[in-house]
Amino acid sequence: MKKAIGVFDSGVGGLTVVKELIRELPYEDIVYFGDTARVPYGIKSRETVIRFSIENVLFLLKQDIKLICVACNTSSSVALPLIKSHFKVPVVGVITPGVKEAVYASQNKRIGVIGTRATIKSRSYENEIKQLDPGVSVVAVSCPLFVPFVEEGWLSGKVVVEVARKYLEPLKRSGVDTVILGCTHYPLIKPVIKEVMGKQVTLIDSARQVAVEVKNILATEGLLNRGRLGRQKFYVSDNPEWFRSLAKRFLGKNVRDVKKV
Ligand code: DGL
Repeated sequence: MKKAIGVFDSGVGGLTVVKELIRELPYEDIVYFGDTARVPYGIKSRETVIRFSIENVLFLLKQDIKLICVACNTSSSVALPLIKSHFKVPVVGVITPGVKEAVYASQNKRIGVIGTRATIKSRSYENEIKQLDPGVSVVAVSCPLFVPFVEEGWLSGKVVVEVARKYLEPLKRSGVDTVILGCTHYPLIKPVIKEVMGKQVTLIDSARQVAVEVKNILATEGLLNRGRLGRQKFYVSDNPEWFRSLAKRFLGKNVRDVKKV
């Protein structure tokens, strides 16, 4: 493998970002680490998520990588500044790309944000949005049941729609015209969120923008690979079978080689 892009997530959800990285950067090798032994991060304390995230970075740095992509919204929300200040390698998180896109998309300057409890509590999205445009009002709510729904394959149906209605009610009430899907899992239930929020509301799934940002950094630093198609290596901290069984849903293709570390 050539020098690879290192990606980590709390589990399998970060594969939604890998999917876009492969599409945008087909010649790049990717090393993915999913912390399946300790998932979910979204209900854990800030200190714990920071500790886990740093450990994940240390693991990736041993894999000959040239950039780290923090694919997990929870890790990006609470640990990104620390990771950026402690390590020399370029680091890309998932918050800023989503924020930029949302602020650009919103016409009425009312943006909704949904994510895990830890992401919403950190106010990471809110702070970045306000920094970019202080005139935007933000309504942020956590939707903790969405992660297990997606992992159980409940991507549609009455129960999911009802739960979504309940969670998204404050966003609807405040008339947001743009909603940031601030969690790796939420793009998979986009049709349900769309159904509840209405067709006129723009849903921002930042994975694509993250891939574009990674590409820009690699291009600027002269680190882009060329020549042959990229390869992917997958590492997990537990239960490779579980990871493999869910991978197709998130990545759109099967993964064979998953190693437990
Ligand atoms: N990957 C997490 C995120 O994007 C969702 C799953 C978890 O709670 O660990 O926030």
